[in-house]
Amino acid sequence: LPHPFAITFLLFARRTDIRRISFDTEDKSDDVIPLADVRNAVALDWDAQDEYIYWTDVTTDSINRAKWNGSKQEVVVDTSLESPAGLAIDWVTNKLYWTDAGTDRIEVSNADGSMRTVLIWENLDRPRDIVVDPIGGYMYWTDWGANPKIERAGMDASNRIVIISSNLTWPNGLAIDYQTERLYWADAGMKTIEYGNFDGSERKVLIGTQLPHPFGLTLHESRIYWTDWQSKSIQSADKQTGLDRTTLAENLENLMDIHMFHRHRTFVQTPCMVNNGGCSHLCLLAPPPKGSSCACPTGINLQVDGKSCSHGMNRFLIFARRTDIRMVSLDIPYFADVVLPMNGSMKNTIAIGVDPKEGKVYWSDSTLKKVSRASIDGSEYEDIISTGLMTTDGLAVDAVGRKIYWTDTGTNRIEVANLNGSMRKVLIWQNLDSPRAIALYHEMG
Ligand SMILES: *[C@@H]1O[C@H](CO)[C@@H](O)[C@H](O)[C@H]1NC(C)=O
Ligand SMILES: *[C@@H]1O[C@H](CO)[C@@H](O)[C@H](O)[C@H]1NC(C)=O
Ligand SMILES: *[C@@H]1O[C@H](CO)[C@@H](O)[C@H](O)[C@H]1NC(C)=O
Repeated sequence: LPHPFAITFLLFARRTDIRRISFDTEDKSDDVIPLADVRNAVALDWDAQDEYIYWTDVTTDSINRAKWNGSKQEVVVDTSLESPAGLAIDWVTNKLYWTDAGTDRIEVSNADGSMRTVLIWENLDRPRDIVVDPIGGYMYWTDWGANPKIERAGMDASNRIVIISSNLTWPNGLAIDYQTERLYWADAGMKTIEYGNFDGSERKVLIGTQLPHPFGLTLHESRIYWTDWQSKSIQSADKQTGLDRTTLAENLENLMDIHMFHRHRTFVQTPCMVNNGGCSHLCLLAPPPKGSSCACPTGINLQVDGKSCSHGMNRFLIFARRTDIRMVSLDIPYFADVVLPMNGSMKNTIAIGVDPKEGKVYWSDSTLKKVSRASIDGSEYEDIISTGLMTTDGLAVDAVGRKIYWTDTGTNRIEVANLNGSMRKVLIWQNLDSPRAIALYHEMG
């Protein structure tokens, strides 16, 4: 469809900045997108519908986005990331897919970072780039660990297969040619750019002439564009023949990912468009005949209907980490921590307790000098004790008697109160010198 701003530009990351080269003008000079605090931008993608560009930062370990003119910059994911080096937008259902070479996982979330979940956590060894094909329902990624490979799976993680595993050394950037239905990849070890069908068949070398160190790859119309770490340049060639090589920019240090921003991405009807595919949480695209499947945020299981998610974690490990509280679900087959979503500030969270009856978490903060509670979904936050505390290093919830007990190494006391903080009473105040942990033994009283 024609758009009032028929804008096309080559977007590329250079660690400390993100730049664009306009394709609407003759002058192919680059300009820096005005963004704050970009430390180590590696992977990029974009969505022309809402004009966002997305990038990962492997120093701040975050995924960020901003409008392509630099406005509305925000962090979308910044917890439990170690080395997010690949990023892809599913522009049809508005999802963010990424790889993490530190945690060896592939994850997905809504484009705003909500409803994050782990898709693939087994047999990954330094995954790098990821690309998605919302038309076919598949995603593809490179993995340059001990056994370098290119893999494919449904965008819901179904039907996972290795499509390329021989003659690969350091598979790096990936790009899909949606017109010819081909997958292109750069290999920084073989020093080539190659392509093949979506199942890995009919593999061909496009450029086999010792590319110094190709990294990012993108396709647009009849051309392929790539960044090279060693020649410090952005180059381009004909996507069918590999000939007609040109250099778009050179003497650029720290070149990372590259993408062509344009307004001609294909849209398709998907089952996710009608009532979120019937899903209570995430509707993910999948290969035919299924077309889609439902998924749940990390820690929560899909129920037997295959559509709705359980109301919360049944069994979990919970731990305090000074500025946040995290939970590891034992309901799911892998371990991934999720942050208790709290708007209230946490400065120095020390002791923690859980009331399984009402599904509430209790914690002490020795800097704010408070004991607070919230539901395990982060709602219903309230401070229950906020006076007369110094250093509450231990607490215990009595789920049977509906009481909270705590120690204070500053006041040298052990106190008790109702779970809402009322009827507070000092139980022991003599012969205590820095009491710390406290536990209750119900059966023995
Ligand atoms: C940036 O783009 C958005 C729309 O994407 C627009 O609303 C805003 O005014 C633009 N800001 C600047 C500074 O150009
Ligand atoms: C791998 O490379 C060798 C040597 O160049 C070649 O003989 C072989 O056909 C290649 N295999 C594939 C699957 O491309
Ligand atoms: C606090 O809890 C006690 C015991 O459950 C209850 O009697 C009291 O009404 C509660 N107070 C408030 C303000 O909710």
